[in-house]
Amino acid sequence: MTFTLPALPFAPDALAPHMSAETFEFHHGKHHKAYIDNGNKLLEGSDLAKKSLEEIVIAAAKDPAKIGLFNNAAQHWNHSFFWNCLKPKGGGASLPGKLKTAIEKDLGGFDKFKTDFVQTCVTQFGSGWGWLVMDNATGKLELMKTANAGVPFTGGKTPLLTCDVWEHAYYIDYRNARPKFVEAFVDHMANWEFAESLMAKGPMKVAA
Ligand code: FE2
Repeated sequence: MTFTLPALPFAPDALAPHMSAETFEFHHGKHHKAYIDNGNKLLEGSDLAKKSLEEIVIAAAKDPAKIGLFNNAAQHWNHSFFWNCLKPKGGGASLPGKLKTAIEKDLGGFDKFKTDFVQTCVTQFGSGWGWLVMDNATGKLELMKTANAGVPFTGGKTPLLTCDVWEHAYYIDYRNARPKFVEAFVDHMANWEFAESLMAKGPMKVAA
């Protein structure tokens, strides 16, 4: 497949002041676009060129010679997913029912989830991602982090929600204050309905 830049699912200024139009101009328009342009160059003539994005990510993750393709394809997947994890007037403690129940059962309730999710994101040393995932074997919700371009679905986890903690995600609006950015994500931007819809679909099915 050829990678293409997906449109944002909201206007670039719709999340202000929590995430500004200027951040989207750079984060979506330049960073995400660069992953797509670089990924397409690396995909040209590759044996993976006809595979789906998820298949490319999984195959490239297993081949040290394809680290460049993995990084760009996985960052394309991660960013496409991240835009859907954001919602104008999102976040807050009013979760849709099934997600709320699962968080209470598996993660100790919303307050503990919020504390632990922020901590997960803040303690990702350097660039990476904080995640709410579902374990494919147990069906339980878990928190995890991945470094750089890492994705949960190479390790048997289904992504439900993510927060990008690369500095390019927050430096324009929050400078170095990653904890404030992640708290704003949970309080004002997280798309709980998107996470719940993925939970309802069950384990992510990707041909390995
Ligand atoms: Fe990013």
